[in-house]
Amino acid sequence: MKIISHPHKIQKFIRNLKLKRKTIGFVPTMGALHQGHISLIRRAKKENDIVVVSIFVNPSQFGPNEDLKKYPRPFFNDIKLCNKEGVNIIFAPKANLIYPKNYLTYINVEKLSDIMCGEHRLAHFRGVTTVVTKLFNIIQPDKVYFGLKDYQQSVIIKKMTADLNFPIKIVTCPTIREKNGLALSSRNAYLSNEDLKKALSISQSLNKAKKLIEYKKSVSKKSIILEIKKVIELNMDKIDYIEIRDADTLEEIKNIIDKKVVIAIAAYIGKTRLIDNIVVNPVR
Ligand code: PAF
Repeated sequence: MKIISHPHKIQKFIRNLKLKRKTIGFVPTMGALHQGHISLIRRAKKENDIVVVSIFVNPSQFGPNEDLKKYPRPFFNDIKLCNKEGVNIIFAPKANLIYPKNYLTYINVEKLSDIMCGEHRLAHFRGVTTVVTKLFNIIQPDKVYFGLKDYQQSVIIKKMTADLNFPIKIVTCPTIREKNGLALSSRNAYLSNEDLKKALSISQSLNKAKKLIEYKKSVSKKSIILEIKKVIELNMDKIDYIEIRDADTLEEIKNIIDKKVVIAIAAYIGKTRLIDNIVVNPVR
């Protein structure tokens, strides 16, 4: 396994692999790898000749009062995990190589970046789409793997990839959960055992909402959101949003029965912000 930190070096290395007609699968991460990331790496291994994992805690996607400084960076453990999974290349640049002095260019997917998480984390998705564009240009992958826990992120990246004509296939993979249903997240490391129990209310209320929609067959969006809110309010310290939207376009919808919808939640325990979602297919 090669560890490369300079964009020019990895670009050159990958150019040679492409001359040998190798296909490149790419898993972008901010490190602190867990089974969710491992599932993306395994899928990439199955579908490509070469797997590249980037480890870069991207400063431009964190707001001024967010957890950039304390974001977990267990770099050596991440390297060990990648090695074990047969990753071929780790790209781990320093921030000044991605954002040199006087850096001025940003990518923004309009509208989609301003709703849901974007409404509460201003400029977050602008930071994500900027770094992902740069990583696409540096790594030139054939396929890129994203987890569906960051549902809005995956919709935005698919849109950006299409709008900017990147010749890349975006592959989305299911959220990996603890046995009890809690979605895996690098930020779970901030939580005490007590907090982890409270955080379970998110996945539990999402599952309950899905069942309600599927069994009752005629429920309003408002009543489902109220049901979820009751449970979340009891357990979490603050709710950013509970939303039900069109699962493909994230457009607002009135009727949640005859469309594939995503129910998405963002809520805090103390200073830790957690997100999760569930997709519900049309009720027939
Ligand atoms: O999902 C993440 O970990 C990050 O948003 C990403 C895609 C690696 C960009 O920094």
